[in-house]
Amino acid sequence: MHLIYAFFILLSLSDGFNPNCPGRCNCDSMQLVQCYRLTEVPSNIPSTTKRLYISHSKIQHLQLSDFNQMLALEDFILLASGTESVENDTFKTLGTLKTLELWKNKLRQVPSALPASLEVLILNDNSINVLHGSDFEGLMKLKILELKNNLISSLSPSMLSSLVSLQSLMLDGNDMEAIAGPQLLPHLTHMSLENNKLHLISGSFFTSLQSLQFLSFSGNFLTKIPINLPKSLLSLKMERNQLRMVRFRDMKHLENLSHLYLSENLLSSINGAQQLTNLTTLELSQNQLQMLPFRLPVKLQKLDCSNNLIQKVTAQDFQDLRDLKHLFLDNNIVSLFEAGALQRCSQLSNLALERNLLLSIPLRLPGTLARLDLKGNAIRDISEREVRDLKQLHVLNLRNNKISALDLKALESLPRLRHLYLDGNPWNCTCSRLKAREVLMAKGTDVRGGQCAAPAEQQGESWMSSKKIMRQYEHHLYLTEKSKETKKKSKPEDPSSISINMDDDDYDYEID
Ligand SMILES: *[C@@H]1O[C@H](CO)[C@@H](O)[C@H](O)[C@H]1NC(C)=O
Ligand SMILES: *[C@@H]1O[C@H](CO)[C@@H](O)[C@H](O)[C@H]1NC(C)=O
Ligand SMILES: *[C@@H]1O[C@H](CO)[C@@H](O)[C@H](O)[C@H]1NC(C)=O
Ligand SMILES: *[C@@H]1O[C@H](CO)[C@@H](O)[C@H](O)[C@H]1NC(C)=O
Repeated sequence: MHLIYAFFILLSLSDGFNPNCPGRCNCDSMQLVQCYRLTEVPSNIPSTTKRLYISHSKIQHLQLSDFNQMLALEDFILLASGTESVENDTFKTLGTLKTLELWKNKLRQVPSALPASLEVLILNDNSINVLHGSDFEGLMKLKILELKNNLISSLSPSMLSSLVSLQSLMLDGNDMEAIAGPQLLPHLTHMSLENNKLHLISGSFFTSLQSLQFLSFSGNFLTKIPINLPKSLLSLKMERNQLRMVRFRDMKHLENLSHLYLSENLLSSINGAQQLTNLTTLELSQNQLQMLPFRLPVKLQKLDCSNNLIQKVTAQDFQDLRDLKHLFLDNNIVSLFEAGALQRCSQLSNLALERNLLLSIPLRLPGTLARLDLKGNAIRDISEREVRDLKQLHVLNLRNNKISALDLKALESLPRLRHLYLDGNPWNCTCSRLKAREVLMAKGTDVRGGQCAAPAEQQGESWMSSKKIMRQYEHHLYLTEKSKETKKKSKPEDPSSISINMDDDDYDYEID
């Protein structure tokens, strides 16, 4: 409340101090002028203005005379204002202009004669359909060029050749079918051409892009990973293309490549990725893999093979992956999971196996797991043998399986369990199930229990919260109180092993 009040005072003060501030604009002491709902660039903008921001206006045409007075302008941002054209040389004399952003307008070409001081040029969401070499002539300081969501259909070497300092080039969402090189952009580190219509990239395209680190061709029609990719590459995105195979031997010079994204292609097998020695992330979701990739890079930390047709997981698949932290195998048809298959992965913390065909929890999973997702399989029970090593497990999802009974010892062997999902299982709500409920409550585990399927009189009751079941259980407890007391004494439990440390609640699931 006070803040809002202070804001209004400031606003009225600044208007009061600056009688020159045009209507529908705010002028602040930092030489920032912000205007909305204009029909033209105001003629009386203070000449000291460094940053002019206009949005949601109707300014069809920009002209030279609009900027006559603005001798100190550094940033001009014109957003969503229906601008269709810019008079020749409008920005030419603005020798201090560093940033020009003309987003979401209706421009059909790049404004002419831009000043040599320009460092950032953003023309996203317009209707520009062609680039000319002359558009960028003399822009030796330009670092960032964004032309996303226009109608540009080609990119030739001469178009950008004057941009000797360019670091980032974004051309997503255009109409490009083929691109040719060489592009002489020695300082370019980021380039994105997502969602175009590329089916061909000429072999020479990359020869003079020796600083390129982040490259994305996601959302095109490419059937091959381009050859001659620059050695400097750290990240390559090729999602949503039509790749049927990957020839890693054409990529083995990419010694620094750490992230490779190949999801949503037509890959049926992957072999030889170990040649990418520094790869840490490999994404292969939504392909047609029938087997896990063969010979994976030893530094891999994240492997996503979800949504494929993988049937089995063996120790051989993972024998060298000691750094693996995140493994996604959900939405496959895994029915065979070799005991101890992931035993060598001594850093593994997330394992996603939901929606497969498993009949039981895989044996000898690594003790480092913090999250295990097994929902939507055909698991019938949980035994202590399967889970006893999982001392770090925080989240266990067993939703939508076929489990009817829960082994008490299994639950007791999971000291850190915080979230347990058990709904969608045909629970047999016997007294021992209710004992399990007590163990879980004592541990502070958040349980989604689901409903009882048996015995008949409990059908439809929720086994974690039903009062009816609770009353029956209390009666049962009363009868067995004494024997339980003695058991407890004879088997002392280290209280620290089941005490709840709230700090442990964070776990590292969504990573990037
Ligand atoms: C603007 O410049 C272009 C190229 O420099 C030229 O062809 C065109 O005739 C000019 N337009 C006007 C109105 O002067
Ligand atoms: C790879 O990365 C290292 C360390 O950042 C760097 O020194 C080296 O120049 C990079 N290699 C290439 C080919 O860019
Ligand atoms: C892996 O990357 C490191 C630094 O990022 C680099 O120094 C090294 O040369 C790369 N290793 C290999 C085998 O290419
Ligand atoms: C439920 O458990 C009880 C006691 O173990 C058993 O006698 C009964 O057959 C089970 N019912 C079902 C439907 O599995």
